[in-house]
This record gives sequence, C-alpha cells and structure tokens, in this order.
Amino acid sequence: MERSDAIITLSHVNAGYPGAVILRDVSFDIMRGEIFILLGGSGCGKSTILKHMIGLNPVLSGRLAIDGLEWGPKTRAQLTRRIGVMYQSGALFGSMTCLENVMLPLEEFSKLKRRERVERGMGLLKSVELGDAADKMPSEISGGMRKRVAIARAMALDPEVVFLDEPSAGLDPVTSYALDELILRLRAERGMTFVVVTHELPSIFKIADRAAMFDKARGGMVALGSPKALKAGSDDPFVRSFFNRGEVHG
Ligand SMILES: Nc1ncnc2c1ncn2[C@@H]1O[C@H](COP(=O)(O)OP(=O)(O)O)[C@@H](O)[C@H]1O
Ligand SMILES: [Mg+2]
Repeated sequence: MERSDAIITLSHVNAGYPGAVILRDVSFDIMRGEIFILLGGSGCGKSTILKHMIGLNPVLSGRLAIDGLEWGPKTRAQLTRRIGVMYQSGALFGSMTCLENVMLPLEEFSKLKRRERVERGMGLLKSVELGDAADKMPSEISGGMRKRVAIARAMALDPEVVFLDEPSAGLDPVTSYALDELILRLRAERGMTFVVVTHELPSIFKIADRAAMFDKARGGMVALGSPKALKAGSDDPFVRSFFNRGEVHG
C-alpha cells in the first residue's frame, strides 16, 4: 500500500545495470515537499538510484513509482515534464549564455513564444540571484554561480520534484551554505520536493527532513530517518561513524 502523501515510492528495488546489481531490496517513500538526502560512500550507488528515479535507467526488479506512475513508454513524456534534474557533472553548455542555458528546457518542452521564454528564463535567473549574469558565458562566472544556473535550469518547467546530484561538490563552505539557503527558500516558496545527493554533514543537518544511507560492502540501504535520529539512535557502526565523524570520543 502506498501512502497518498508519498511522491516517490521504491518497493523492493534492485538497483544497478544489466548484469550488475549494485543495491538490493531497497524500499522507501519520499513525501511531497520533503527534502530527502541520499547518503553513502563513493561508488555505493547513489547516482545509480537517482538515475532510476529520473527514468534514465530502468530498475532491475521491484517497483519505482512517481505519484503512482512507473517509468515506461506511456508515462515517460508526462513524468519527464514533472521533474527537474541537475546531474553530477552539472554541466552547462559552454557555448551558450547563462540565459540560453536556462531557457533550453523551455525550448524543448514548452510551447512558449520566444519572448515568453526569455521572460521566464530571466525570472528563473533572478530567483537564484543571477539576473545580472544572463548574458555571461558559463566560463565567465564562478563555480558556485554555475551551480545556481544549473539549478535554475532544473526548475525551468516548474517541476514537482527536483533531483540534485552532489550540488555542493567542489564548492567552498560559504558558497555551499548559500546553496543550502537557496534549496530551503525554493522549497518554502514553491513547495517542491528535493532529492539531493551530498556528503556534507552541515548541509545534511541544515536542509534534510530525512536521509537514506547506502553501503557498498553490504549492497543495500543501511539507514533511513531524520539526520538527528540517525546521529543519535543508529546502532549500525557504519552509520554512527558517518554522523559522528570529526567528534572526539573519550
Ligand atoms: N553504466 C554502468 N555500468 C555498470 N556499472 C556502473 C555503471 N555506472 C556506474 N557503475 C557502477 O555502479 C556503482 C555505483 O556507482 P554510482 O551510483 O555512480 O556511485 P555513487 O554515486 O554513490 O558514487 C560503482 O561501482 C560503479 O562502478
Ligand atoms: Mg554519484
């Protein structure tokens, strides 16, 4: 049975690639409006799970649904319009201005006229405080600004769910903090659901409602809950050491 307030449901999912199961028997729900974090060491399968959620790769077995719909030929067009994605590479097109990058999904998926696309693209850039960068090339702005342009592009179609794969990778703590503020503000303003891959503990405690943690060695999900509950209550040494890293134990 699915809870009606769940926007994403994974039920006994085997995640991976044809001939290579990476994570076994993964089950969890993500609620509407939730900021949900995918956690775990490098290579454990966070991006793999994300690629299943965004319909890039089919799950190996089990059921993955967005708002009750599984990815397939009949649902692909509809589901694609309801999600926004910032991939781990996060790349903007270097030969296009920031505004052109943000307008790209509108050109592909909306019927807006050029003038309306420009208007909407400018609005999106302003919402990430980059109205001034519209005519700049990606190479002319900082890494943190490029991430914000990529997030603006992911929001272009006003999606219900936004997927961000390691948005703060390579950013300094101050820029990373600003990015967290942006995610919180966008959720408050638009009620979107966010699914975010990150390793940053401060960020997890600042933005996450709940997190799922995966372990490569065990090939599955090893924890699910609020960061506070996971830090305080997990009896799993792997989970405990992640949440308490950097702290001195007497
Ligand atoms: N296209 C692919 N085919 C087969 N194995 C893959 C493919 N892409 C990634 N993998 C493997 O899946 C595992 C998980 O990768 P990934 O999901 O990218 O990890 P994470 O995002 O947690 O760092 C790794 O062992 C990786 O080598
Ligand atoms: Mg990854």
